[in-house]
Amino acid sequence: SKPSILVTGGAGYIGSHAVLALRDRGWPVAVIDNLSTGFRFAVPEGVPLYEGDIADGELLARIFADQGIGAIMHFAGSIVVPESVERPLDYYHNNTVKSRALIAAAVAAGIRHFIFSSTAATYGIPETSPVREGMPKAPINPYGWSKLMTEQMLADTAAAHDMNYCALRYFNVAGADPEARSGQSTAGATHLIKVAVEAALGKRNSVSIFGTDYDTPDGTGVRDYIHVSDLAAAHVLALEALMAEPERSMTMNCGYGRGFSVLEVLDAVDRVTNRPIERVMSPRRAGDPDALISDPSRIRETLPWKPQHADLDIIVRHALAWERRLSEIREDS
Ligand code: UFG
Repeated sequence: SKPSILVTGGAGYIGSHAVLALRDRGWPVAVIDNLSTGFRFAVPEGVPLYEGDIADGELLARIFADQGIGAIMHFAGSIVVPESVERPLDYYHNNTVKSRALIAAAVAAGIRHFIFSSTAATYGIPETSPVREGMPKAPINPYGWSKLMTEQMLADTAAAHDMNYCALRYFNVAGADPEARSGQSTAGATHLIKVAVEAALGKRNSVSIFGTDYDTPDGTGVRDYIHVSDLAAAHVLALEALMAEPERSMTMNCGYGRGFSVLEVLDAVDRVTNRPIERVMSPRRAGDPDALISDPSRIRETLPWKPQHADLDIIVRHALAWERRLSEIREDS
């Protein structure tokens, strides 16, 4: 029978979509999450949820044995860039030190495959866009460094031990499960599409546009928005690729290879809701690059990945549907 997959951070935004994608493809799943930013309701019924720390070696050893874990998908971590600048040591602790403990427990237990949530923040402000994986890695904040250091630990561990890994460098993850089984639930989120759908539903008054003088066609920042369910599907395919070729490790960008400006995103939200949200022209945010777009050649060559939701309006529609559902969940509790 198939081994079970341990999803760390499986009660969080991207992790919970990975749980759905794994289950939809017939993989047994277990979740470990300390529920610091995740939600119990994000873990589907029937999926074992271990509420605990990814650096707790005893707990991990028990989960590996009890659940018959054959691979790890590691999503747990801290993700707020400005917070990482204010509290760097917390980020190195949560993202780097705890990942080291998790990797060590995996090696000790003979877990053979490891999939890691990395980020386009490892590139810093890239010299050219689209960005290829081989380009210089020059993070401009502790968040990006904390992820890059974990990539390095995985590369060295895979060279020395019987484990292969896949590091997936996410661009701008957005949207929600098409059936509204999960979505982004974090209160106080700062991501553009999340903020915009909150405004569209009257949960906030307006959306700030951070900078209108960027070197882009309309002056606002351009990003490569990827639907969270397409991203989750890429993880399942990466897992299957690691299992098919146990000697091979890989690092891949996760994006569609095309960008939208802040204005284009807000236009899409207005179009979907048929009601304009208020826009407030604001100064640039520190550390934001003009444009950040992936070169998706490698993932396209490596995995049989066929994005199903590579459409800005669909991403917005799903984000909006989840935002409505979230209001219902919150009213119930
Ligand atoms: N933006 C606004 N108003 C907002 C929020 C964002 O104008 O209220 C703009 C930003 O300036 C940027 C774009 O919308 O041009 C996207 O911003 P997000 O905050 O949604 O995302 P970022 O591109 O800043 O960051 C994302 C992830 C990070 C990751 C980074 C690089 O959140 O974790 O991509 O890959 F590090």
